[in-house]
Amino acid sequence: MPRLVLLLPPLLLAALGAGAGLLADPDRAWPAAAGAVAGLVLGAAAALLWARRRRRVRDGADAAAITGLTPVAHVPPPGDHAPDRRRQEEAFRMLRAALRLHEGSAGPVVVTSAAPGEGKTTVAAGLGRALARSGRPVVLVEADLRRPGLAALLGTPTPPQGLTAALVGGVPVAELLVEVEPGLRVVPAGALPPNAPELLGSEDGARVLDELRALDALVLLDVAPLLPVADTRELLAHERHGTVVLVARPGRITRDELARAAALLPPDAPRVLVVSGQASTPRSYDRYLRDAEA
Ligand SMILES: Nc1ncnc2c1ncn2[C@@H]1O[C@H](COP(=O)(O)OP(=O)(O)OP(=O)(O)O)[C@@H](O)[C@H]1O
Ligand SMILES: [Mg+2]
Repeated sequence: MPRLVLLLPPLLLAALGAGAGLLADPDRAWPAAAGAVAGLVLGAAAALLWARRRRRVRDGADAAAITGLTPVAHVPPPGDHAPDRRRQEEAFRMLRAALRLHEGSAGPVVVTSAAPGEGKTTVAAGLGRALARSGRPVVLVEADLRRPGLAALLGTPTPPQGLTAALVGGVPVAELLVEVEPGLRVVPAGALPPNAPELLGSEDGARVLDELRALDALVLLDVAPLLPVADTRELLAHERHGTVVLVARPGRITRDELARAAALLPPDAPRVLVVSGQASTPRSYDRYLRDAEA
């Protein structure tokens, strides 16, 4: 039935085009034919566009319905203006508060998403800062060994050795920590390996996670997306009870992608949903935030 609906716009516009052609010159057939073809093409393009949009996750409510998770924070786009920064910082505080509910759960917090570019690294960095500023020591780990971007986003220098030195060379994690600001340290990715899933899923991967757990800090892992590569699936096999933060960016991923990613999360892991991207926040919220900080 939905596929039949897609035929309606081209047929309707073709009929309209043919009608307009007939009106323009009732004595000849070609204006009607040209109108019909133009209508058909326009209608088909409109129908395709509509179908593509329908397949995408629309908004936070849509993401919640697909994953069965309530969004605990909506992270707006990064921006240079004070109101943008205020809104984003408040979203990270909301996420921080939501994670307190899972405080007792074992293991690090894993920040992931279905597809690339949904805002994982931004969320991991913002959450790390929010936690550290609340007095909680935090270790952020650049565990995306495909497209690491955490150390760059935090503005820290990247030493030659990082997580891969711990995984491959047995370098103790404690020797790889780089201070970002008081209470916030990062383990950079280091040299990128050709076999990230094997490394993360290996006994060495389990050993490094144990070392991270033993640090006197809350550990946040910024990892690769779930669908294109096996890295995070391997890592989650070691981390079945750590909390997962699933970042979803409406408009960027399809409903099917988000459903598949949610189904890959370990069944016993506490998980929270974070929505990233544009949102229509009520103006009164902005006023409230500004007044509260004045
Ligand atoms: N909440 C947001 N809303 C809109 N754009 C965002 C948001 N967070 C990040 N972005 C933008 O999206 C792009 C990707 O962000 P980020 O690196 O955090 O995503 P990622 O999921 O870590 O990507 P990758 O899969 O490549 O590691 C950046 O250009 C960033 O500025
Ligand atoms: Mg990233």
